[in-house]
Amino acid sequence: MSSDSPPNPPSSRSGSNPRDLREVALPAGNRASPGPEPAAPPTGRTATSLPAIVARNVAFAFGTGELRRQILFDLSFEVASGEIVLLTGPSGSGKTTLLTLIGGLRRVESGELTVLSRPLHHALPADLVASRREIGFIFQQHNLLEFLTAWQNVELMFQLHPEVSADQVRDRTLELLTLVGLAERLHHHPSQLSGGQRQRVAIARALVTSPRLILADEPTAALDSQTGRDVVELLQWLARTNGCPILMVTHDHRVLDVADRILHIEDGRLQA
Ligand SMILES: Nc1ncnc2c1ncn2[C@@H]1O[C@H](COP(=O)(O)OP(=O)(O)OP(=O)(O)O)[C@@H](O)[C@H]1O
Ligand SMILES: [Mg+2]
Repeated sequence: MSSDSPPNPPSSRSGSNPRDLREVALPAGNRASPGPEPAAPPTGRTATSLPAIVARNVAFAFGTGELRRQILFDLSFEVASGEIVLLTGPSGSGKTTLLTLIGGLRRVESGELTVLSRPLHHALPADLVASRREIGFIFQQHNLLEFLTAWQNVELMFQLHPEVSADQVRDRTLELLTLVGLAERLHHHPSQLSGGQRQRVAIARALVTSPRLILADEPTAALDSQTGRDVVELLQWLARTNGCPILMVTHDHRVLDVADRILHIEDGRLQA
């Protein structure tokens, strides 16, 4: 498959061929501030080639006192810019917990976690919010609002970006839904869409935040094999065309081949 066209269904796309996810999602002048540029590393690599995620000895426990239960132990890994990394492991092994730490939804207690050049260990709440604005989240349960149409579900996300004008919101919403192959389903409610189409709305919605990193938690779990494959190939196309790294939790052995790398976690520990 050519990396220049999104997989299935290309026929419903508009004439535009967005090359940069962040151009698709928000006009340049309206993007969330990426924060201060990190100093160039001694190797001479540019800032854009810095890893998207760097975890060093990350640990996490739920609860306190006698109820305290350690979930993640001494995790060290990196995800490079533009890489697709799958996270596999048995139920309860800590995959979602790890994703919530990387996504700034929980704070790392021990170890160091740097996401998009922002250290999240000991981060202030405002830093976590800033980090979340640069990440696109896609969950197993797509979390679409049932009483809103596909269009309205995507449009709603622009409320995070009040600086974007109404005209721009309209143009970008159309562009994103077209990008994911839903130009013919703009005004359908989730109940009128297939599982794969709903997941595509969820992907369009995740792109609104101009993500520099996509975190996906079992995005194909509720889908049949072909539809799951289509959704993963769409994510793969986004990663390849835009250099946007993706960390995806999956139990789905049928999609393992899209990965550049697979991390396997058991009982909160990464397996070699
Ligand atoms: N909010 C919470 N409070 C206390 N314990 C929790 C909480 N969330 C998760 N856990 C526990 O942490 C462990 C890891 O959960 P997590 O959801 O990260 O697993 P997972 O690998 O994503 O599993 P699955 O494949 O079933 O989604 C589990 O034992 C779970 O019961
Ligand atoms: Mg989980």
